Amino acid sequence: MITVNFSSKVDEARLSQILAEIRSDAMGGWLDLPKRVDMAELVRIKEAAKKINDESEYLVCIGIGGSYLGHRAIIEALRPKGETKIIYAGNSLSRRELDRALEKVGDHDFSINVISKSGTTLEPAIAFEEFKKKLVEKYGAEDAKTRIYATTDANKGTLHDEAVANGYMRFVVPDNIGGRYSVLTAVGLLPLAVAGVDVEKLLEGASEAFDTVAGPASEYASMRYTLGSRGYDTEVFASFEPSTLYFNEWLKQLFGESEGKNKQGIFPASVIYSTDLHSLGQFMQDGRRNLFETVINFPTDEMNQKVVAAVMKAHTAGNIPVLAITVPSFDEKGFGELVYFFELACAISAKMFGVNPFDQPGVEAYKTELKQLLAN
Ligand code: PA5
Repeated sequence: MITVNFSSKVDEARLSQILAEIRSDAMGGWLDLPKRVDMAELVRIKEAAKKINDESEYLVCIGIGGSYLGHRAIIEALRPKGETKIIYAGNSLSRRELDRALEKVGDHDFSINVISKSGTTLEPAIAFEEFKKKLVEKYGAEDAKTRIYATTDANKGTLHDEAVANGYMRFVVPDNIGGRYSVLTAVGLLPLAVAGVDVEKLLEGASEAFDTVAGPASEYASMRYTLGSRGYDTEVFASFEPSTLYFNEWLKQLFGESEGKNKQGIFPASVIYSTDLHSLGQFMQDGRRNLFETVINFPTDEMNQKVVAAVMKAHTAGNIPVLAITVPSFDEKGFGELVYFFELACAISAKMFGVNPFDQPGVEAYKTELKQLLAN
């Protein structure tokens, strides 16, 4: 069970109201997801993963933001020993990166999982076109279609329409779950299963968190709100396990996109210790005091725990509020718990700041500018 090393006064009446608001929100479908796993969908996911494992050395996962960071976070953290390697594409507009991914696949057998809820996002759309071309060159137009797995809206969007027209195997991003809350849907579960992650254990962890983390998650949200209101405008997520680098990225997206609106929110940053003690350690110890630190502690071994204790002591002495979240195990179950803990805490926290946790109007601004530039 996830535990925290602090306690914060939670306004119970406000909390019940917030939870009721999340539950009735059109985008609140992730809230009870761990308790209503669609078993038939899970079977389809596992069958598709087996087919991909049988046919392909590489699965090219195309997606960006919430359609990408969650599964990458867990795959990179756990380093599962699956037979099929995952390659990520469509998460930037860098020609160099795209060429690199295409080169890496080279002549190997591969399949594509293209993930986009809207089905119109530019970065994945460009990468998809390139990899589709490669697939058709290698396998021919008809066989190529059997190697494309589209995870998108159930009824609409360019990707949905193309998938239906061509008979790609389709998986659904539920209407009531937004990108950054979607890792426990097919968005995350298919690539995770292909990579060799035990998705049942992951869901088990999330289900356990559903039963146990409401208290700690609301205390954490409430502590963030209190610190934020007192001028601590930056939260530094600190992990002592280097392979959790992408989990930090997922966290930054979750909090940044959920909370940063209407001039509100806490800026999410991250470090990996002890590596970053030799780059950002000085600032953490003695720089400007507008930040607090949230240690994500996986008690993996004795040495690791000594470092965690030493850093927390030093930073507390340096006048940084240090919060610690301890995860029971560094495995699928632990990450399932952690994902749900942070999703819940983030949604509650955003509500405390008075913003909508589930939209991202600010992300549209750059898209509009870019579309105009590309049209010229
Ligand atoms: O969390 C979100 O909603 C966003 O980060 C989206 O996941 C991201 O913009 C990608 O969108 P889409 O899945 O529609 O391609």
